Amino acid sequence: MAEINEVNNKNIPKHVAIIMDGNGRWAKQKGKLRVFGHKNGVKAVQSTIEGAAKVGINYITLYAFSTENWNRPQFEVNALMELLVDTIQKEIATLNKNKIRLQAIGDLNTLPKKAREKLQNAIDKTAQNEHMTLILALSYSSKWEIINAVKEISNQVASGNISSEEINEKLIDNSLSTVGIPHPELMIRTSGEHRISNFLLWQLAYAELYFTPKLWPDFREQDLYDALLSFQKRERRFGKTSEQITEPN
Ligand code: IPE
Ligand code: IPE
Ligand code: MG
Repeated sequence: MAEINEVNNKNIPKHVAIIMDGNGRWAKQKGKLRVFGHKNGVKAVQSTIEGAAKVGINYITLYAFSTENWNRPQFEVNALMELLVDTIQKEIATLNKNKIRLQAIGDLNTLPKKAREKLQNAIDKTAQNEHMTLILALSYSSKWEIINAVKEISNQVASGNISSEEINEKLIDNSLSTVGIPHPELMIRTSGEHRISNFLLWQLAYAELYFTPKLWPDFREQDLYDALLSFQKRERRFGKTSEQITEPN
């Protein structure tokens, strides 16, 4: 596993997005209930955030609960919501100590009232922090987000505020819940699954993807550094040729 000093601090992605997957399988391997895996995922979250703050990542988005996850057994959904409330409350002091601002994206109105209130409280209490922004994707799905953006834009067109000719990338960016946040340059998914699962479809258009077989509860800051080292070895061409990138005139 990589150490922090191996990471080139001149090539750090501004925004890293993570699909934290494999909690259930981790617990199953240990003969425990799935919820045990979720609880142990908190350590991975803490270590990853610490690592991200140390290397100077500006934004980190963690996929914590998808729209589709509402379809899980009620017992698991309840346990996840409780864990969320509990963890957020406990972490406020650490977030403030490390100057980390909390934000959330997703259909937050669908969260239980208590979870919504605790979340809002943590967002308010950390709003002044400027070292790093931690974005939790909660009850989030990219299709939900895109549908909302389309509705908002069509309303503007219908009311004559803008013409359809004015619809461009910037307008769509500004209509998404990630407005003002740069697109992730790196997306990490744990647990060996190679899919996006309805996460930031628009925003990940040109992200580098990194997959690791590690299950989320085993993920630590050194694993983040491994992902960063992989990112730093890649040539991001954005449709150009390699020569255009390496020999700019
Ligand atoms: C990720 O782990 C956590 C959430 C989706 C909330 P999973 O619960 O999906 O674990 P696996 O993929 O079933 O092992
Ligand atoms: C994606 O993981 C959502 C989160 C990590 C919150 P899932 O475990 O729900 O994804 P699928 O269903 O395996 O694609
Ligand atoms: Mg999963």
